[in-house]
Amino acid sequence: MLLYRIVGGNRLNGNIKVEGAKNAVLPILAATILNGGESIIENVPALNDVETMLEILKKLGCRVSHQDNTVTVDSSSITSNEIPTVLVKRMRSSIILLGSLLGRTGKVISNYPGGCAIGVRPIDLHLKGLRLLGAHVEMHGQIVCQGKELTGTEIQLDYPSVGATENIMLAAVLAKGTTLIRNAAKEPEIADLQGFLNAMGAKVYGAGNHIIRIEGVEKLHNCRYTVMPDRIAAATYMAAAAVSGGEINLENVVVEHLHPVLDKFRESGCVLQTNCSRLRVTAPGRLKAIDLIRTLPYPGFPTDAQPQMMAAMCTAHGTSIFVENIFENRYRHIDELIKLGADIKVDGRIAVVRGVPRLSGAQVSAKDLRGGAALVLAGLMAEGVTEVEGIEHIDRGYENLGQKLKNLGADITMA
Ligand code: UD1
Repeated sequence: MLLYRIVGGNRLNGNIKVEGAKNAVLPILAATILNGGESIIENVPALNDVETMLEILKKLGCRVSHQDNTVTVDSSSITSNEIPTVLVKRMRSSIILLGSLLGRTGKVISNYPGGCAIGVRPIDLHLKGLRLLGAHVEMHGQIVCQGKELTGTEIQLDYPSVGATENIMLAAVLAKGTTLIRNAAKEPEIADLQGFLNAMGAKVYGAGNHIIRIEGVEKLHNCRYTVMPDRIAAATYMAAAAVSGGEINLENVVVEHLHPVLDKFRESGCVLQTNCSRLRVTAPGRLKAIDLIRTLPYPGFPTDAQPQMMAAMCTAHGTSIFVENIFENRYRHIDELIKLGADIKVDGRIAVVRGVPRLSGAQVSAKDLRGGAALVLAGLMAEGVTEVEGIEHIDRGYENLGQKLKNLGADITMA
């Protein structure tokens, strides 16, 4: 099993270029199926989840080429509409292919992706949306969605699910007539998907607001698109500066997307300077506790940055309270942080973190992607050696996290 070995205590300084957004590129890659032609996508991060998505696209009949951070997908000949089970199991977000395969071929077969480490993660809202568009959905061991003639309609989501919003957008692009999604997710990645779809000739409006309108079109065309920067990776690198008392310049950020986290870093005593797509973080010697962090749909504080912020609060001055509102099992990093000496109490969705003067190195295990990143951050500030096992979780969503931190002065090796 691969692990990171970190000798804590180094102050991190320097520049870091933020990669393209994982949660934007995955639906965009799924959307390449729709145009039946060539899509050239730039700023694609080198992540295991991206590799899995490209493997799926190839199995479906797409021709895929990948050079540096540019991916070309030619979807002119789709030969299968069955998403390979082994790949569905490897990456939950393969579920996003339901909408695009259905829209393109009129049928899609997929295994149920099941629960995952951070929660149950049902797909009822995805399926409700597809049914309302006219698809016939059967679930007997497998999910089979069929619908040659999808028709635009009004869809009210009970909850602004990111994945459900994206799946409905994808299925509605080639449907007849107009689709309205009410209570849509407002995450910036939704707006990036809209940008990509419109670059290939779709008519999608309103992403970023709670109502999205999709006017169905008959045909789409080839396109070229650049993926937005990863706001969660940016928040993680900010946390690396914060926990090490360092000063880091982030390049390739959209500051607007980061406001929910910027506010919390300021509260912790970090000084932030922004200039177009750059952000400088200067951390104090010791962070101040943040009173309350409640995860919420965008533009609230992102659940994907909760574990990293919790790691940072472990040695802050004072007590911080976390309320995790999005996923029911997103505190699996806490037992590991406690092994490093953190003082954290949990009751259901609430975690109380009392800042301790220092953490001490230990062997810990990453259970999921962002929780794994939190353990790396904790290792950066712990005295002595921390070994983080399970870094395959981290590689799913960060482009060379270890190397990036090493370039900033961290003592981190992969063993
Ligand atoms: C996406 C992100 C993930 C992020 C999450 C919330 C990708 C690839 N992943 O996941 O990193 O943590 O948004 O910002 O973009 N729900 C239902 N029924 C459904 C769908 C969702 O009850 O049909 C619930 C979920 O169980 C969860 C909540 O809605 O409690 C949010 O889930 P959702 O917004 O759908 O997240 P994902 O799209 O899975």
